[in-house]
Amino acid sequence: MKRPVRLAVAGFGLIGREHAARIRACAEAELAAVVEPDPNAQERAAELGVPVFERLEACLRARAAEAVILATPTDLHAEQALACLEAGVPVLVEKPLAHDLPAARRVVEAAARTKVPVLVGHHRRHSPWIRAAKELLDAGVLGRILLVDALTWLAKPDDYFAPLWRRRKGGGPVLTNLVHVVDDLRNLVGEIEEVAAFASNAHRRFETEDTAVALLRFAGGALGTISVSDAVAAPWSWEHGAGENPWFPRAGEPCYRLGGTRASLALPGLVLWRHCEDGHWMSPFELVRRTVREDDPLALELRHFCRVVRGEEPPVLDAEGGFRTLSATLAVLRSAERGAPVRPEAP
Ligand SMILES: NC(=O)c1ccc[n+]([C@@H]2O[C@H](COP(=O)([O-])OP(=O)(O)OC[C@H]3O[C@@H](n4cnc5c(N)ncnc54)[C@H](O)[C@@H]3O)[C@@H](O)[C@H]2O)c1
Repeated sequence: MKRPVRLAVAGFGLIGREHAARIRACAEAELAAVVEPDPNAQERAAELGVPVFERLEACLRARAAEAVILATPTDLHAEQALACLEAGVPVLVEKPLAHDLPAARRVVEAAARTKVPVLVGHHRRHSPWIRAAKELLDAGVLGRILLVDALTWLAKPDDYFAPLWRRRKGGGPVLTNLVHVVDDLRNLVGEIEEVAAFASNAHRRFETEDTAVALLRFAGGALGTISVSDAVAAPWSWEHGAGENPWFPRAGEPCYRLGGTRASLALPGLVLWRHCEDGHWMSPFELVRRTVREDDPLALELRHFCRVVRGEEPPVLDAEGGFRTLSATLAVLRSAERGAPVRPEAP
């Protein structure tokens, strides 16, 4: 049995508490410290019986942990990731990698220079549904992918927006939720070359959007449509479709459709539709339902991060990958602002 990796969780909010709970349930990891400036959250963290630091720098200086999970507000990610890298401490940065591209680029450069691993917390990279879909795509079962459609229609309650950053520019569902979809599509379909989008704050009237739609053009020639809202009561989102997160009721409805020349795939649920005569619209449909061994992607991500820290495998999504996902996601907001298509910047 290997020695558990000693981890600090920075930010003991919504997702930080989830990470801490999984670390405590994981034989490969040990919760060594929490970093949290808020007195109420500090009190909750203190119940775990580990040192609680007010600032990340103090935790790093004390060498309290071998690696850090950054679950802090998005606009702190880059600065705190840089502090970890400069201290030689591997870091799992919650998504998105940073709040803007200059900040994300600084993390990419520091990761390349220090050679300290960065894992970006797009936990769906570890989803058994996504992994099985990727296997089907890589095996060519769908033929050439030409079309993609992805829905993220969610209804968030008013108290979700109590922290100011969730109401400010960049705190909306594009960078919070759609960023996962962009990463899934980059993972499954390939790089996104161009984005044309609309965004609206018609319902909540916050500085940030509550609803957005975008058209995507992929490097391989596929085209896609993606839409997100945090004010629509519906079952069509990964959260409600996959049932991977116990916070959400499972609706079991697919929210992604991938259209290929030989077959099309709906997921989660992995329903494959194809014609009996390859690609002939008048031949009967053959429907194949795949199943997966379901597992918690956040727990799988944690075990992967432990292997990354031990130097056993490279991060499935490093700083450069996180930059590309962020860049394509920010292109949605930039295109909506400019009223013109935008090409995502490369790292
Ligand atoms: N992977 C996912 O599915 C997922 C889910 C939720 C949130 N997130 C991401 O995680 C991050 C946090 O989101 P959240 O919803 O947990 O936010 P939150 O507001 O609930 O929690 C953030 C916590 O960080 C603390 N904090 C503030 N400044 C700090 C500092 N300097 N050092 C340490 N802690 C500090 C806050 O006091 C708060 O407790 C965001 O970037 C968000 O996009 C990812």
